Amino acid sequence: MALRGRLALITGAGSDRGLGYAIARALASAGAEVVLSDIDVEGARRNAAAIGASARAVALDVTSEASVAEAVSEVGRVDILVNNAGITQRRAIWELSVDEFDRVLAINLRGGFLCLGAVVKGMMERRWGRVIWISSVAGKQGGGIIGTAHYAASKAGVIGLCQAAARELGPFGITSNAIAPGFILTGIATRAVDAQAEREMDEKISAQAPMRRSGLPDDVGAAAAFLASEEAGYITGEVMDVNGGIHFD
Ligand SMILES: NC(=O)c1ccc[n+]([C@@H]2O[C@H](COP(=O)([O-])OP(=O)(O)OC[C@H]3O[C@@H](n4cnc5c(N)ncnc54)[C@H](O)[C@@H]3O)[C@@H](O)[C@H]2O)c1
Repeated sequence: MALRGRLALITGAGSDRGLGYAIARALASAGAEVVLSDIDVEGARRNAAAIGASARAVALDVTSEASVAEAVSEVGRVDILVNNAGITQRRAIWELSVDEFDRVLAINLRGGFLCLGAVVKGMMERRWGRVIWISSVAGKQGGGIIGTAHYAASKAGVIGLCQAAARELGPFGITSNAIAPGFILTGIATRAVDAQAEREMDEKISAQAPMRRSGLPDDVGAAAAFLASEEAGYITGEVMDVNGGIHFD
């Protein structure tokens, strides 16, 4: 129960197959009190109820400064922030519209910046904090899974933001680390393209990845629980690959 007494806020935790929910489960198992937030607050409520008494839900749209401020003031103290909310899209770069580009960046990159801004002063005052960013292998290799240019740019940007935060916040006892998942079976590919795209990617990864399977949400949950732990207090600015070996750097 290494995280007993810590409060974690997880964004994008409203999907029942998603990484946010899996991360919330892992942090709750480690003893943290967890707040599941999402633009889909009903989904977040259902997931929180399934976790039990140590979990609650709050509405939070990461694209809106007002929504982030309202949610954080409702939650109170945040010791662990998991910037997980994200969307993807498959679009050829020559067909990508400015609106599509802006929307992906607003959720995947700017959203994490807004959430950090709303909680960081409290972490600095208490001289303890854990910030975990969900990047992607796509941010390291220019896409290549489901997300294309705007997705890859947003996830590379997340790594930059994570590492800048690590530099600036380390002196205040706050670590900032990213997880770069490979292909994880959450349904995101079905939402972004279709079920056929999800099946094809699953088959490709299962045939080619050194670990011979796609990732499961709990694979990412376990990594997040480690990065949030007291024991990970000397790890900062790290980008942890959770990808079954499809990419090394
Ligand atoms: N599944 C994968 O293969 C994979 C790989 C690498 C990275 N990721 C990243 O992991 C994160 C979680 O993805 P997932 O696979 O669980 O997908 P998901 O679609 O299941 O979950 C994303 C969640 O974000 C929420 N969301 C969307 N817009 C929002 C907003 N404006 N404010 C708040 N919440 C919002 C959605 O409602 C949803 O619950 C994303 O950042 C994604 O880019 C996923």
